[in-house]
Amino acid sequence: AQVERDTEVSASFVVVANRLPVDRVVTDDGSVAWRTSPGGLVTALEPVMKKNEGAWVGWHGAPDETLDPFEDGGITIVPVPLSTNEVAEYYEGFSNATLWPLYHDVVAPPAFHREWWDAYVRVNRRFAERAAQVSDTGATVWVQDYQLQLVPQMLRELRPDLRIGFFLHIPFPPVELFQQLPWRRQISEGLLGADLIGFQLPGAAQNFLRLVRQRLSVQVRRDRVTLPDGHVARAKAYPISIDSRGFHDLARTPEVTARSHEIRRDLGSPKVMFLGVDRLDYTKGIKQRLRAFGELVAEGRLDPDEVVFVQVATPSRERVEEYRHLRDEIDMLVGRINGEAGRIGRSPLVYLHASFPREEMAAMYSAADVMVVTPLRDGMNLVAKEFVACRDGDNGALVLSEFAGAAYELKQAYKINPYDINDIKSTLELAANDSEANKARRMRTLRKQVFDNDISHWADSFLSDLDAEVSPE
Ligand code: ADP
Ligand code: G6P
Repeated sequence: AQVERDTEVSASFVVVANRLPVDRVVTDDGSVAWRTSPGGLVTALEPVMKKNEGAWVGWHGAPDETLDPFEDGGITIVPVPLSTNEVAEYYEGFSNATLWPLYHDVVAPPAFHREWWDAYVRVNRRFAERAAQVSDTGATVWVQDYQLQLVPQMLRELRPDLRIGFFLHIPFPPVELFQQLPWRRQISEGLLGADLIGFQLPGAAQNFLRLVRQRLSVQVRRDRVTLPDGHVARAKAYPISIDSRGFHDLARTPEVTARSHEIRRDLGSPKVMFLGVDRLDYTKGIKQRLRAFGELVAEGRLDPDEVVFVQVATPSRERVEEYRHLRDEIDMLVGRINGEAGRIGRSPLVYLHASFPREEMAAMYSAADVMVVTPLRDGMNLVAKEFVACRDGDNGALVLSEFAGAAYELKQAYKINPYDINDIKSTLELAANDSEANKARRMRTLRKQVFDNDISHWADSFLSDLDAEVSPE
């Protein structure tokens, strides 16, 4: 295959992700602004890109717009256009109404539509072609996440000279669930085009290896898969992280410290502040945690004069039906809890449906006593790590679902099963009332874990393994 190289951009390190680090938005007065894109992928990759000075190929978040590449903070941004129809079928449809629920243990029913699949193939090809155009000879290209699982194979066909890595930010499901997917073979083969396929947890890598061993005519030896044409793809776990030091230092600036004190004052200086921070997503277990808190207050196990729960939820994928439905349910639940337990001048639950700058997030993490992270299934969950990184000492408590990837590393958290409301209730109570000594013992270990295993450790491990892979082409 012949690829016409881009005359302007030629990078030796290229990240390919559905999202760019910034989204182009049109504000109410019609002017154009750029704002940080939502989610863990961007949080994690931004510092990696700043260090490697590469190109980032991705969608800028708005439909029907073709933009030229530009520079942003040392990164070459290469926007990929999507039409309105492609946003509906590839992004909202196949990515977020088929793959997202399927890969998260089917906590919502996945929808299968053939037109969505066709759009997924078409858009993946566009990303592969754009990456092929802007990659230097022998460049390293790192493809990200479930939206682009066909890109590794497509890119290898276009540019066999490239070193191709892939990282899946979400869980990889057990074979028994993955098999539902009508296009399971194409997706597995798409991924195997990479030299190295990274997963959040060893269990996910095992699921993938088991799948290809059973379903494809490939040879699997330990974590190495050999294809009939001799290409070798390796599948291995690399738990992702955050810029721990960066978050810690941000939380320690005078402005953020002052803001954190102000937040507590504005909340009425509660004895205990609980905090939840998520994209508004049905995988996050937001309903379960709010219900647990509401019951504790109603039963008098938590005193609404002493405690407050702040839940921050970023609007997300708002045109997908399951997400709209979730928003209504949460609105109702919040109203009910505050209606029942609130007093004049005091609501036990503060719910903010908005996205905030990183400084404000750091102030909230610093202000909180108990961080409540309760996903029904989550690839990693960076919020848990951000809270730990923002502590100013061995204080505070992290309540963490066993079903978050983060639980694999953050073993000293107060663990819960999010499907067990009584378990959430008793653990919230314990975390709020536990002795300072117990909390400090847990937090010391958590902080060490988060500072020792930060995002540059993650990127270095993946990229040095990718560098060491030599495929006989
Ligand atoms: P996911 O990738 O599924 O959204 P993660 O917990 O891994 O979940 O990452 C979420 C990221 O989004 C974190 O970096 C977090 O700080 C950020 N975030 C979540 N909610 C908000 C919000 N309301 N405002 C700003 N940032 C948010
Ligand atoms: C998760 C996914 C990312 C995605 C992010 C935000 O972190 O793993 O790929 O970018 O959520 O979701 P969005 O659909 O807004 O990009």
